[in-house]
Amino acid sequence: AVERTLSIIKPDATRRNLTGKINAVFEDAGLRIVAQKRIQLTPATAGAFYEVHKERPFYKDLVSFMVSGPVVVQVLQGENAVAKNREVMGATDPKKAEANTIRAQFAESIEANSVHGSDSLENAKNEISFFFAGTEILP
Ligand code: CMP
Repeated sequence: AVERTLSIIKPDATRRNLTGKINAVFEDAGLRIVAQKRIQLTPATAGAFYEVHKERPFYKDLVSFMVSGPVVVQVLQGENAVAKNREVMGATDPKKAEANTIRAQFAESIEANSVHGSDSLENAKNEISFFFAGTEILP
């Protein structure tokens, strides 16, 4: 089925001017960027977005990293978009990511791993509405 998923191009990637190269990977995989904005997260926004990880040891560092520079938040649409995006991103840890995935090619570390993608259709809906009004999504 046609789905939408929330993607974030993280500060390590915007810093290295990789937005276009990453977007090309999405588009080449058949994912359509139907909403996109470059924003500066605040500690409150990043903290709330990653609320599910609040008790994890990496939470504080993750929030600091996510506010260390601009991010590009985007909605990707396509057939099986949630799974397809996870496939092209590769594993969270770039050392474990398959060759040619975004993280294998571009990620610096398990934290500075260049992209975020929703892990389920339900989370995708919540994460999309966290950043976008319906009127900002233009398929
Ligand atoms: P993301 O898919 O955005 O979801 C949570 C993020 O936490 C993850 O990508 C990484 O950027 C970061 N992170 C840092 N350390 C870890 C870890 N040990 N395990 C999982 N995620 C981590």
